[in-house]
Amino acid sequence: MIGNIFILIVVIALVLLFGWLTYRAVRAKKLWIKIVGGLLAGLLTLVLAAMALFGGKGIATVYSPDVPAASALTVAGSPEQVARGEYLVSLSCIGCHGAVNANGEPSGEQPLTGGWNIAAAEGFGFMGSMITENLTPGGKLADYSDGELFRVLRHSVNQDGVKLGFMDFLPYKELSDADTEAIIAYLRSLEPAETAVATGDKFNFLGAVMMGSGMFPPSVPGAETVTAPPEGETAEYGKYVATFGECRGCHGPEMTGTEASAAGPAIPNPRPLVSTVSQAEFAEMMRSGIKPDGTAFPETMPWQNAAKMTDSDLAALYAYLTTAP
Ligand code: HEC
Ligand code: HEC
Repeated sequence: MIGNIFILIVVIALVLLFGWLTYRAVRAKKLWIKIVGGLLAGLLTLVLAAMALFGGKGIATVYSPDVPAASALTVAGSPEQVARGEYLVSLSCIGCHGAVNANGEPSGEQPLTGGWNIAAAEGFGFMGSMITENLTPGGKLADYSDGELFRVLRHSVNQDGVKLGFMDFLPYKELSDADTEAIIAYLRSLEPAETAVATGDKFNFLGAVMMGSGMFPPSVPGAETVTAPPEGETAEYGKYVATFGECRGCHGPEMTGTEASAAGPAIPNPRPLVSTVSQAEFAEMMRSGIKPDGTAFPETMPWQNAAKMTDSDLAALYAYLTTAP
């Protein structure tokens, strides 16, 4: 943070310097200095001013986001909570927070030690690094209170209230209070394991400029309390399954696909395909990774997670995807 603020101050100083040079050039006696110097210095002033503006805005959004204080929550940690938490984590979190292999790629397996630099993997490493956290009690979460961990998931900020660059775009703010607590109960029940690499975000100034210029989807604030719809094979509950199953994180909030952005390539709308198959065929496709036309899902579509869903959650997902959004 200090580094980025220092760069911001330097950029602001440069805006003033080139602003002054522009003024001097325009008032120069020689015509060519007036035109060439004025244009060049003026242009640089504008570019630097935009960098200062967006960088400052980005720094403010990342380091002092508008979120409530952590609550004094204590999660009971009942066996039911731990079991529910294990199910939820196995469907989504483990894909990014599972142990990394020797090449630093996620294995999707226990232990949940993380260490995957997702910014580099997704091609925006030039903004800095975003490395998945160790979710076991062997990492920094051991020092988080239950309320602080709840706030991580509901508001996407770390213990210090600093915005989490990547988690903020995932749909976990919409998890119910009960499911969020179940995840906390499960994470607390894990064997402590250590991570070899540094974890967390390290944005550089360019990252702050990009954040501030609105190149990424806007951050959605988390609600104070969230209740899940009644569990059942309904479209309403299916939308909730698509939340904890991570589908909406990629396919868009209404599962109608997303356009390409700085955060990644376009992702198709799955509804047209799903509406041409039966519920059994849908379940088969999600469990095998093979579409009805015999082609396999590419690696970018993590069907292995959906394959772990219960029959009734898959049925709910089918009901949701075959109902107009
Ligand atoms: C698509 C990848 C991805 C998925 C899925 C994911 N995370 Fe993360 N998570 C990250 C990244 C990357 C970070 C590092 C901070 C950042 O950039 O957001 C992170 C950071 C965290 C942190 C550390 C926050 C802190 O205080 O520094 C916690 C806790 C966490 N995730 C919990 C979870 C849980 C629980 C789930 C499942 C419900 C989950 N994550 C799913 C990518 C992911
Ligand atoms: C990490 C991002 C990601 C997540 C999470 C994800 N998908 Fe996908 N999905 C993709 C991509 C990318 C494709 C397109 C693959 C291709 O090019 O054929 C795809 C394709 C599909 C298709 C086939 C669409 C077609 O017309 O060929 C279906 C159906 C689908 N996803 C359903 C789901 C469901 C249900 C979930 C949640 C359980 C889910 N996806 C989670 C990225 C994702």
